Amino acid sequence: MWHQAVIDTEYTHAFYPEMAPAHMAFALLARGHASPFVAGDGFSYAELGCGQGLTSMVLAALHPQARFTAIDLLPRHIDGAKALAAAAGADNLDLRCESFADFARRQGGADLDAIVLHGVWTWVDAGVRATLQDIAARRLRPGGVLYVSYNCLPGWGPDMPVRALLMDAVENAQGTLSQRIDHALTRLRRLADQGGYFADNPSAAALVEALQAKSDGYIAHEYLNRAWTPFTSAQVARDMARAGLSFCASSTLLDHLDHWQVAPAHLPLPDGDETLRDVLTARRFRRDLFVKAPRRLGAGERRAGLEMLRFVLTVPVSDIPDTVTAPGGVQDFPRAIYRPLAEALAAGPCSLSDLPGDFETVVEAVLALVGLGLAAPSLEAGDSTRCARLNAAILAANRGAPAIRQLAAPEWGTAVVVDFLDRLFLAVEAAGAADVPMAVWTILSGRGKRLRRGGRWLEGQAENLAETRRLYDGFIVERRPGLVAAGAVQSRPITASPT
Ligand SMILES: C[S@@+](CC[C@H](N)C(=O)[O-])C[C@H]1O[C@@H](n2cnc3c(N)ncnc32)[C@H](O)[C@@H]1O
Repeated sequence: MWHQAVIDTEYTHAFYPEMAPAHMAFALLARGHASPFVAGDGFSYAELGCGQGLTSMVLAALHPQARFTAIDLLPRHIDGAKALAAAAGADNLDLRCESFADFARRQGGADLDAIVLHGVWTWVDAGVRATLQDIAARRLRPGGVLYVSYNCLPGWGPDMPVRALLMDAVENAQGTLSQRIDHALTRLRRLADQGGYFADNPSAAALVEALQAKSDGYIAHEYLNRAWTPFTSAQVARDMARAGLSFCASSTLLDHLDHWQVAPAHLPLPDGDETLRDVLTARRFRRDLFVKAPRRLGAGERRAGLEMLRFVLTVPVSDIPDTVTAPGGVQDFPRAIYRPLAEALAAGPCSLSDLPGDFETVVEAVLALVGLGLAAPSLEAGDSTRCARLNAAILAANRGAPAIRQLAAPEWGTAVVVDFLDRLFLAVEAAGAADVPMAVWTILSGRGKRLRRGGRWLEGQAENLAETRRLYDGFIVERRPGLVAAGAVQSRPITASPT
């Protein structure tokens, strides 16, 4: 039965920065709410529906003083996560193959500081959502935060027919799940090429195009789940209110910058009117932070909370753009404000009060930098030994089937994305290869792969090896130093690539 095949298909590995404690703390504090996370203190964190568990695994390596629980129904997800966690020596992470209902039945009072649900709410039925509400009501401590992401309206409105067509085509096709998905994608593309609804609704056409590049696992979990439902933010807020939780902030930090989101004529937007924000931005995905018994902070307390966080730049200063594209259109990213901030953040972890400029201007600018993925917040430096063990396990696992694109970055308090070839360079470095490019080319050729340059596939060992050497030299000069600064990679004497 195809539905069983969907259930048996694995989801992708990913680390989601918006679920990191420091990131959630920044979002809450910026909106004037107390955060349950304090630098140096322990906390308890549960990820429900963790998929491959990478987010909890990286966070557990970064925060040895905290306790993490990550559960998922799918044995293959938890088996893979357990193997990685064992190789990484993650003794503060409890990975369990269990349902939300099993988790709800296990004992435990109000003992959690954070519950995170990523890619779950839209994808489970009303009964399961009620179980999750019950867990939040019983297990979250007063002041504890619940992160919930979901597909939302009105953004998803025009694209819902694409999902319906995809679902029907997969259900009615023959063959393996992969063949059914292929068939459905071909049908969708043909329909989109014919215009009509797709010409009138460019976002639906763009979704059809985007789906063509997605893996079967992603499509199966994301779109072929019968329960799939996008919600309005007001519906989710009502459900959370039943669990005693109130909406406090978006963990998508760019959502905090109304002037980047909507036309000037709409400003100022009333505080807390999320429906209006969703409508004006045609928002399709939200990452919301709900808090049990939230506490509003006075100006002094809010500033002290924000000053507790440390921030670093995660890109070279030269990568800071002059303009950025936001839902409200192309926005200026004034050099006069962002250059001095970027230079200070590049020099090492800074508190917001170390940064040049008026405090509120700095807060807003750093919300933008973090929201754009150009900077990262942390509570404290991560545990470098644990992160090194996890990264070694990830690099070793990457030599097999799953693609794990992120490494823990303890100096930045987050994870860093590393490209496929760079991960292979690091993996063979870690394995002690004397000639790293030769070892990488041997792996690639063993998998029947070749390299491409200037739009041409390279022929034979000599061309491919020379290109691998050129790419490795580029990695060492351009990207490895950043990974060392992030703490993701050990610094060690690098022998120049033999020519
Ligand atoms: C779309 S995936 C998201 C996975 C992960 N949070 C991520 O974003 O990478 C949803 C996950 O929820 C899990 N799940 C769905 N219903 C569940 C239930 N009732 N109990 C436990 N896990 C469940 C699925 O097995 C799946 O791994």
